[in-house]
Amino acid sequence: MPKKFYVTTPIYYVNDVPHIGHSYTTIAADVLARYHRLLGEEVFFLTGTDEHGAKVAASAKESGKTPQEFCDEVADRFKKTWKLLNISNNCFIRTTDKEHEESVQKFLAKINERGFIYKGEYEGLYCQGCERFYLPDDLVDGKCPFHFTKPRPITEENYFFKLSFFQDKLIKLIETAKFEIFPEERRNEVLGKLKSGVEDISISRGSVEWGVSFPLDSSHTVYVWVDALINYISAVGYGRKENDFLKWWPAQVHLMAKDILWFHAVIWPAMLLAAELELPRKLFVHGFFTVNKQKMSKSLGNVIDPWALSEKYGVDGIRHFLLSEFPFGADGDFSIRRLEERYNSDLANDLGNLLHRFLPVVVKSCQGKVPDPAGKPTHLEKELEALSDEVTGNVTSLMEQLKLKETLEEIWRLVRKAHKYLDETAPWSLAKAGETERLSTVIYNLAEIMRIIALLISPFMPTTAEKFWKQLGVEESLATQILPQGARWGGFRPGAMVKLAQPLFPRLEID
Ligand code: MSP
Repeated sequence: MPKKFYVTTPIYYVNDVPHIGHSYTTIAADVLARYHRLLGEEVFFLTGTDEHGAKVAASAKESGKTPQEFCDEVADRFKKTWKLLNISNNCFIRTTDKEHEESVQKFLAKINERGFIYKGEYEGLYCQGCERFYLPDDLVDGKCPFHFTKPRPITEENYFFKLSFFQDKLIKLIETAKFEIFPEERRNEVLGKLKSGVEDISISRGSVEWGVSFPLDSSHTVYVWVDALINYISAVGYGRKENDFLKWWPAQVHLMAKDILWFHAVIWPAMLLAAELELPRKLFVHGFFTVNKQKMSKSLGNVIDPWALSEKYGVDGIRHFLLSEFPFGADGDFSIRRLEERYNSDLANDLGNLLHRFLPVVVKSCQGKVPDPAGKPTHLEKELEALSDEVTGNVTSLMEQLKLKETLEEIWRLVRKAHKYLDETAPWSLAKAGETERLSTVIYNLAEIMRIIALLISPFMPTTAEKFWKQLGVEESLATQILPQGARWGGFRPGAMVKLAQPLFPRLEID
């Protein structure tokens, strides 16, 4: 039985249009999903949309649509954007899916049965933008830190979840790494907050109509965050498809940015404990992309649109930039200037140019055919092979730690080495001098290094990797390759016919 790997992104609010911030998490999750498929694992990759709550109902009204029509349109836009960005999700969940609503109700009935729900009165400061209550200490100058608006004081009769009951259990699970939170800084942040005390939370709304009916009281709906978190189990059949659920749950990793850490690190695991379910193995919390140091959102008018970017820089150009610019976990400020510089240096000069330098030599000197390596390998070939093995090994351990930027840097060591090898061996001169044996060795080794580079970049830049393989004339399908065997030196089959094509990443003119 292959190992299974279940990875999720947060489900995105339909209030915003898909932007480069959402794309960041989704592309990272896609890279993980593709990488684990490349390891031969069976992967379930989940993303979707979070569609309930007063905010959505208000936006629908504003645009003259019913909430369902409004959600259908935005969910469709998310789906199309992920298609554009070559996202390989297995499932797209919507919280308005009937199956999801059924799972939510079953889940809540279960934790109620186990005595973790009670009725009470809640008084608090509510930010509609975030659909959550804030404590006065969480506010910045009395305003929501994300929306810069004043939360409204609200008093409501609600149903509560006994979150406080799980305080000690959660501390223990996190401290003993049974429930892992990365990076360390985020883990410490959660532990500190947990230790300073946890209050029960209200999980129903009497004042919100657009939501899942609360199973204990039909005059209430389920608090959107509780509804949303349950997506991670409803997508794999909780309460409906027992075998699927047993197969996939728990998730190996939930990805998200730090803005929603508390929900995932405290509320969600407590809900799961209340229902006697296993916890996800790991949370990986990445940084925030800002534009001029501000959160990207439609309401702030500073959204960067992946459609416009992809038109100019290509989908793989965006995928590469987003993951190579900042360590996955740290914050970063988005700039087109950096995107263009990186595109020119890493993609046009390094990666794309490698193929563009190599293919014409094969056409001119070997009639386009990659020959058998007839000459004896020199120290140059041995170095190339050794570096390739080293990089493949390092990629495995870096990917295990979700060090995506560092993985790309590691692969780029190979790209630069291939350029150096090309310079040092100068196959065009060997051809001129009629040194056919040596020439065949050099051409073969170059083809081989490029095959391996393509394989290693394939989770990050799937289209580029396919183009590399096609242009190198590799016949096997990239989709059937398995690591590490597939990257073992000598896998290139001589006799392949290369195909000349336009440069993969034409240089950009930067002012
Ligand atoms: N609907 C909730 C999540 C529920 S999950 C059970 C939500 N949605 S959201 O649309 O606001 O998206 C939040 C997530 O989108 C962030 O945690 C992050 O993964 C991603 N990002 C949105 N904007 C981002 C940036 N500007 N930078 C980095 N990631 C960003 O919260």
